Amino acid sequence: MYGLVNRALQQLVCTSKGEDTWRQIRQQAGVEDEVFMRMDSYPDEMTYRLMHAASDVLDTTVPALLREFGRYWTRYTLVEGYGAMLHDLGPTFQEALTALDSMHARVSLLYPSLKPPMFRVTDVTPDSMRLHYYSKRSSLGPMVHGLIEGLAERFGIVIDVVHVYAKDDTHDHDRFDIRILGSLSDAA
Ligand code: HEM
Repeated sequence: MYGLVNRALQQLVCTSKGEDTWRQIRQQAGVEDEVFMRMDSYPDEMTYRLMHAASDVLDTTVPALLREFGRYWTRYTLVEGYGAMLHDLGPTFQEALTALDSMHARVSLLYPSLKPPMFRVTDVTPDSMRLHYYSKRSSLGPMVHGLIEGLAERFGIVIDVVHVYAKDDTHDHDRFDIRILGSLSDAA
């Protein structure tokens, strides 16, 4: 995966737990790179190793860490200068979900060897929808769970997400059922 992803994990750990914890994670994962170049491609396996080591050192599970990472990603991409892409996703949360593929198509103009995910939105009602996530990769469903939550936060809404199933022998993709519960301002 592109270095942007490993950098985001590094940033997440360093801001919440400090540089020493990141060094420990890197050592446990057997990763020598002190800096990841955002536009360079790194083996997927390195990202998976870092995620596993981080979950171990932080005493959490890989799915829980991936979900937190997904939530963090929407904030991180803003800081890294991709705010316009997130903004252009559309004026509503529902529209943003349907525009994820075209957004990644734009990302691949900058990152030509991108292996982007694919999404399909079905069963739309004013306050619910299903998101289907297709990927060449495995086990990243919890990250999408967090990404959906991070996106909802950006739109100032409160949602409930159920990860109905993950890609396995019987399903070729992950499915998420999403319900919009209200706006963040209602909750305040
Ligand atoms: C402006 C914001 C975003 C940028 C710049 C961005 C960019 C990227 C990049 C560089 C990768 C690595 C892929 C590779 O190296 O092959 C990636 C992966 C991914 N992105 Fe985005 N992304 C953004 C927002 C989102 C959002 C909002 C979602 C929401 C669901 C999302 C879902 C994913 C997933 C699931 C992957 C993992 C790849 C896979 O499943 O195979 N991204 N993205």
